Amino acid sequence: MVFLAMGFPIQLQDPIMLAPMAGYTDSPFRRIACSFGAGMVFTELISADGIVRHNKKTLDLLTFTPYERPLGIQIFGNDPAIMQEAACQLLSLKPDCIDINCGCCAPKVCNNGKGAGLLKDIDLLYKIACAVVSSIHVPVSAKIRLGLSQGTKNYMEVVHALEEAGVAFITVHGRTRDQYYSGKADWEAITHIARTAKVPIVGNGDITSYDHALTKLQSSGCSAVMIGRAALGNPWIFCGKTPSWEEKRETIALHYKLMIEHYGSYGVILMRKHIVHYLKGFPGASKIRQGIISCDRIEEIFKILDSSFD
Ligand SMILES: Cc1cc2nc3c(=O)[nH]c(=O)nc-3n(C[C@H](O)[C@H](O)[C@H](O)COP(=O)(O)O)c2cc1C
Repeated sequence: MVFLAMGFPIQLQDPIMLAPMAGYTDSPFRRIACSFGAGMVFTELISADGIVRHNKKTLDLLTFTPYERPLGIQIFGNDPAIMQEAACQLLSLKPDCIDINCGCCAPKVCNNGKGAGLLKDIDLLYKIACAVVSSIHVPVSAKIRLGLSQGTKNYMEVVHALEEAGVAFITVHGRTRDQYYSGKADWEAITHIARTAKVPIVGNGDITSYDHALTKLQSSGCSAVMIGRAALGNPWIFCGKTPSWEEKRETIALHYKLMIEHYGSYGVILMRKHIVHYLKGFPGASKIRQGIISCDRIEEIFKILDSSFD
């Protein structure tokens, strides 16, 4: 059992979390991750403007069930008043934490001074964090990168500003904005932050297995670690199990069922990108994938899966 966060502790059964990933970490996938032991899960980044304007597509992203706890709702924006208002509106959903996105590198987010764009304006970042922290009674966290570029790494200033604003914990993805997902996550920097920060640090970047997560947890001094890409098609990463193909097939079937319950028949289409990940490494994966991708009826998909896995 790990108690994360200052002030309002969040109780984690396990210190390995599922990272927020736009287009992937929706309610069905979060439920699956939790069922295999993810210690905490997050929504993808959700626009504070959209929340305040009650935009239907934005509000749909906020749907969750009791099986996805502890749950952090991640918001992004660049206006302290709007971020504050959005956070207040989210309280009725009873999230376990509200996370401020300071790491998104997508140009349409970052170039507007949102997401990782906040790293270049620490005063504004501080104002946003203060506005959100002071207005709600649930833990507020932030997810950052090391800086905008190799030459402008300012993570210690960012961490100090967030600590000063009263955030409960900080997740650090060990890359700069201009690296996107290339190069290697800098775990030396994450370790330095974890050893010197006043608030708990969650380390993130390039973790590939359960054992790797435990090693990073121990060597870095982080309070928890977060796994993103390696969890796609592999929720067993949260419990360290190597599934048999039979177990994989069962999980794929459950994932389909949850997607259809959640999105209706469109869930079958949305599931395609998960299937690509589940089938990685399976003999004949590309042929099965092709077969599945061209079907939109669930019965046909199961027929292909059953004959492939037999
Ligand atoms: C497809 C995709 C979508 C992502 N969306 C988000 C997001 O909505 N919010 C966020 O903070 N990070 C997002 N990230 C970054 C991840 O949370 C994580 O920091 C990054 O992938 C590094 O961790 P990993 O090496 O374990 O994947 C996304 C990453 C990917 C690959």
